[in-house]
Amino acid sequence: MKTAIVYATKYGCTKRCAEILKSYLKGEVTILSVKADKINLSQYDAVFIGGSVYMGKIQKEITQFCKRNLKQLLQKKLGLFACCYTPKDTQGFFETLFPAELLSHATYVTSVGGEMDYEQMNFLYRKMFQSLKKIDGFNEGFTEPQINKVEIKKLAEAIIK
Ligand SMILES: Cc1cc2nc3c(=O)[nH]c(=O)nc-3n(C[C@H](O)[C@H](O)[C@H](O)COP(=O)(O)O)c2cc1C
Repeated sequence: MKTAIVYATKYGCTKRCAEILKSYLKGEVTILSVKADKINLSQYDAVFIGGSVYMGKIQKEITQFCKRNLKQLLQKKLGLFACCYTPKDTQGFFETLFPAELLSHATYVTSVGGEMDYEQMNFLYRKMFQSLKKIDGFNEGFTEPQINKVEIKKLAEAIIK
């Protein structure tokens, strides 16, 4: 089985998740950057698509890729993931990130956690999070994210089956 993992990242966490995902898969697996690589899906049996979430949105390149390849993606084994701090059971969350057709076709859709890289983050983002964490309404629902390897393994296994 040939598999593609298509990802978008800002600070590298989603790429690290893609690499972990690859380590749980069998057969020929290619990791492709949606921003940097020319992607032709015809040769792949299975496709994973993952991006990170900023201010409630996934990268626009992921949205465009999903739209452009919708027909082909509906013919593949499909796994979708978001790298972010929002837990996977948050109601209505994935509907804001991926097209409805892909969500219902996908074998597994999940949030794989993430990392808040405060050192790489630009000054404005860092300040914004410092301020947000002082607001009770935000801080109550916020825990510093970590990459969730257990969830990445589940994602891999759902497609291998
Ligand atoms: C400025 C900023 C905004 C973010 N907004 C969200 C958000 O709205 N929802 C969420 O679940 N995670 C959010 N995150 C968490 C990122 O999705 C998380 O840090 C992720 O691991 C980043 O992955 P990347 O390095 O591949 O871009 C935000 C992070 C930053 C720095």
